[in-house]
Amino acid sequence: QTIYLADYTPPAFLVEQVGLTFRLDPGKTRVISKIEFKPNPDSQSGEFFLHGENLTLIRAAINGQEVTPEVTDQGLTCDVPDGPFTWESEVEIDPAANTALEGLYMSNGMYCTQCEAEGFRKITYYPDRPDVMAPFTVRIEGPEKVMLSNGNPTGQGDGWAEWHDPWPKPAYLFALVAGDLVNHPDRFTTKSGREVALNIWVRPGDEDKCAFGMEALKKSMKWDEDVYGREYDLDVFNIVAVDDFNMGAMENKGLNIFNSSCVLASPETSTDMNFERIEAIIAHEYFHNWTGNRITCRDWFQLCLKEGLTVFRDAQFTADMRSAPVKRISDVIALRGRQFREDNGPLAHPVRPDSFVEINNFYTATVYEKGAELIGMLKRLVGDDAYAKALDLYFDRHDGDAATIEDWLKVFEDTTGRDLGQFKLWYEQAGTPRLSVTDDFKDGTYTLYFKQETPPTPGQPDKAPRVIPIAVGLLNPNGDEVVPTTVLEMTEAEQSFTFDGLSSRPVPSILRDFSAPVIVQRDTTNKERAFLLAHDTDPFNKWEAGRDLARDVLIRMVRDGAAPDSGYLQAMHAMLRDDTLDPAFRALAVGLPSQDDIAQRLHDEGATPDPQAIWEAGETLRQTLAQEMQDTLPRIYAQFQVTDPYRPDAEQSGSRSLANATLALLTRLDGGAQAQRQYDSADNMTQQLAAWGCLLQAGKGDAATAAFYDQWRHDRLVVDKWFSLQIVHDDPATAVETCAALTNHADFNWKNPNRFRATLGALAMSPAAFHRADGAGYALLADWLIRLDPVNPQTTARMCTAFETWSRYDNARQAHARAALERILATPGLSRDTNEMVARILG
Ligand code: ARG
Ligand code: ZN
Repeated sequence: QTIYLADYTPPAFLVEQVGLTFRLDPGKTRVISKIEFKPNPDSQSGEFFLHGENLTLIRAAINGQEVTPEVTDQGLTCDVPDGPFTWESEVEIDPAANTALEGLYMSNGMYCTQCEAEGFRKITYYPDRPDVMAPFTVRIEGPEKVMLSNGNPTGQGDGWAEWHDPWPKPAYLFALVAGDLVNHPDRFTTKSGREVALNIWVRPGDEDKCAFGMEALKKSMKWDEDVYGREYDLDVFNIVAVDDFNMGAMENKGLNIFNSSCVLASPETSTDMNFERIEAIIAHEYFHNWTGNRITCRDWFQLCLKEGLTVFRDAQFTADMRSAPVKRISDVIALRGRQFREDNGPLAHPVRPDSFVEINNFYTATVYEKGAELIGMLKRLVGDDAYAKALDLYFDRHDGDAATIEDWLKVFEDTTGRDLGQFKLWYEQAGTPRLSVTDDFKDGTYTLYFKQETPPTPGQPDKAPRVIPIAVGLLNPNGDEVVPTTVLEMTEAEQSFTFDGLSSRPVPSILRDFSAPVIVQRDTTNKERAFLLAHDTDPFNKWEAGRDLARDVLIRMVRDGAAPDSGYLQAMHAMLRDDTLDPAFRALAVGLPSQDDIAQRLHDEGATPDPQAIWEAGETLRQTLAQEMQDTLPRIYAQFQVTDPYRPDAEQSGSRSLANATLALLTRLDGGAQAQRQYDSADNMTQQLAAWGCLLQAGKGDAATAAFYDQWRHDRLVVDKWFSLQIVHDDPATAVETCAALTNHADFNWKNPNRFRATLGALAMSPAAFHRADGAGYALLADWLIRLDPVNPQTTARMCTAFETWSRYDNARQAHARAALERILATPGLSRDTNEMVARILG
């Protein structure tokens, strides 16, 4: 059944107060609710409906009188009196049998919840929609040592604990945690003097992995005060680490619940990338307190209202804490890898979708990452000051509201007097615009001609032109910048912009800082790209020039069988040796575009990409790069060894990333001798994992693989890495078999989403292996998705995206992929989640 944005109606009843009592028991937990309802003056309906799924109703009463509601498997209806009334119910649920990890479930003997988007209806009968907000009082009864819920603690005794959350919230922000937990405590004083007790709660044994997350939390709290003027609003802030979790983390009011992989960190067990990601996710969930919780979404179509803005805010935070250019470049790599891929395939949908079957299928790169790009464009269009004013107005006007994208755009219109009608198309139209560029120089005037075009996407054959902020700068042929960054505002399908008074034809630097999520198409020479790589003042476009060069070289290699271009090799070598450049930047610049990116570009040109040929071209190019740079590599490798005690900060991790990028190239020359030395002496996970990856790549990994397992078999998060790396670094000819063998390993606990993703997800991340010509990759993943679906529909549905590019490939591959997808679709009792995904992918 499809749900449409256009069908929105306000709730018939509002909730004034919620009281919940939980009597915990793994197999039969009782949930007793007492809810004060009142008719909504904004609704004519009067129909009393409460969501409820997988609940056993024990009793129900209205104003103290027993009632017998009409119950279906979606919820219940009941006759209610006129005016306000009190609803009471008692239900029984079975957390131990809840393998879907939605609602109240158990993870390693600990109770926890995940309610976003529609999980609260698996806990009790309730109007489970985000525009119904209420203060909650919760009592938890059970033998557990620690029992937590939202808000402030109001009492506890032997076998019970009580919590009160004064801030009205929708049910999706409800949380409960109970178990044998230990805490890492700290405190924070807000700008206005509120003392906040902070805790990270973990399983005994994980206490030593909390310190970094706690520092990240305090930095986030301070940053949101300094940059957005937003203070925390409760006496406690709790974070809990949970091993079985479908997503990264969840911003429940005052009680954030995290996938343990997104909060636990130590130098021995976590890489620099893990640390950076943990810092960002802690910030993200914390920032939701204002952008998500205090101001929430009217309905789930508005998901990007909180997610796009919060991703944008966490990116700003990371840029401030670390290196802004490095963060921007990494974000664009991720955007192209996940969002462009989505936007150019069968799952393309607008940032604000207008229909869905299962909302969990829309927690996507488009809603999150493209949603964040839209905020960035808006900020660039109105300017930093107007952005700050508009945000103040947003918090002021909508605090306590369940808001919409219209509300969001209105604060910008009211602040700036601008009409954002055309900008809104970015929320409504799916697909990545192609921006083609030509230029012309005559009598001192330089003209840039732009043309925008967005390919059709499912349900949207024709697109209207959008407003595109195009940041450009112009360089003189001698390398000086003659026109510093200016933002051109394109509003037409075709539009030109002129620059006067130039003494010679400039070299344009277009779409600086990646000012819009578009694909630039421009015929240019590799000479010009090398020039920009050497001279551009915009760090993003400097990197982009190198990336364009590499992509061009790879495409010529794959399509025309060309040899690696010497201009590219020399430009990269010069870049690598340039000690004025940030090491982290150099590490990023020496990397190649992803295999998927090359496949997409070939497909765009009308060619049929061969995943094996793309993989081989990458291997050849890396080998050739290594040879070209052979005299430089040992020097760079030695120069960027870190001798200070380990710190996961930008400076040290930048050095390590360059040293390890160098090691990967060196390994192609020395067969792994240096990598083995690094493996043997590594005292942190970044160094150990990088070295082991190089050894695996060189086919010399067996000893390290065994040693790594022996050393880390008791650390589940490191064992995830052990599963995944063996597949990622395997030869694509054997990676499917390696993956299949690992699914027979005693530690392959397939019901744990992290382990499942580390294994089958790793296969999906290796295009040449997953898209193997004989269809073995498709078949293996389909087998496992069919098995996982009845256990955990959300994780199954999400992993179906591995197939989203299937129709790019040749007929034989398409036939194998179609067979695998149809086999999934034909599975009896397939979940709504997976059904929707596979049906959309098949088109
Ligand atoms: N709101 C969470 C976050 O982005 C994600 C929760 C997603 N949950 C889900 N069932 N899709 O921080
Ligand atoms: Zn979020």
